[in-house]
Amino acid sequence: MIIIKAGGSAITDKLRPYTPRIDVMEIIAEQLALIEDSIILVHGGGSFGHFPAKKYKLNEGYMFPEQIKGFSETKEKMEVLNNIFIKILNHKVNTVPIQSSACIITKNKEILKFFSEPISKIINFGAIPVLYGDTVFDEKLGFCILSGDKIIYELSRIFKPEKIIFGTDVDGIYNKDPKKYKDAELIKELSIKEFSIDIGDIDDVTGGMKGKLEEIKRIVQLGIEVDIINITEKGRIVESLQEDFKGTRIFS
Ligand code: ADP
Ligand code: IPE
Repeated sequence: MIIIKAGGSAITDKLRPYTPRIDVMEIIAEQLALIEDSIILVHGGGSFGHFPAKKYKLNEGYMFPEQIKGFSETKEKMEVLNNIFIKILNHKVNTVPIQSSACIITKNKEILKFFSEPISKIINFGAIPVLYGDTVFDEKLGFCILSGDKIIYELSRIFKPEKIIFGTDVDGIYNKDPKKYKDAELIKELSIKEFSIDIGDIDDVTGGMKGKLEEIKRIVQLGIEVDIINITEKGRIVESLQEDFKGTRIFS
């Protein structure tokens, strides 16, 4: 089994509210159709999730009644993004979307309960379950934002995949943010023991690249291979299943 994350930075334009990147979704769909192994796909929120989540301070938990409007609005926008993506994926593969808030409860932003049986059933039918970062109910905070990256950690514990691919909009992990520094260097192999990467400012309710690296560290400790690749480029997912690929491989 392979678990793939389609980062919100790749499938949406993160700077423009509610703007999908259809071309990237098509690139992903084409490659999924070429993979014989079973797949779980998880996608991020990008400008569909982070804008409303930030506006209503949803990741700080329940504080005031107006946030309920924000909770509904964020969920609505995430459903829209998921639906756009699912329609494109279904031209090439069979997918079944799963709404995180209907099967996951968190406690202090960590997954406490996860009813994962439907995911196994979908895989048994040869289809691809598609989960996504979402607003979820939290036993301590009332609710919170659960990132796709945290969902992937939990899926890793449950399904023990051979490999996880984090697809984003840059070629992998660099020594500093490649969007800010032209001289940033791509790190091809990274041990979780030497994690001292400059990730700059975080303008993302779920912690951006910093949050992603924290989850990756936990996943690698389970003994699972993790690659970070640029999912906006044609062929990169399939290449990462071969030895020669462009990206960062993380090992313990
Ligand atoms: P996604 O939405 O794809 O899951 P994020 O937006 O959270 O991912 O993180 C990806 C972004 O992290 C990139 O667009 C990049 O600008 C930023 N970033 C910051 N520091 C680094 C770094 N050292 N290496 C790679 N990317 C970095
Ligand atoms: C965020 O999920 C979901 C919401 C903001 C509702 P992610 O944290 O996985 O999204 P990206 O990949 O960073 O956009």
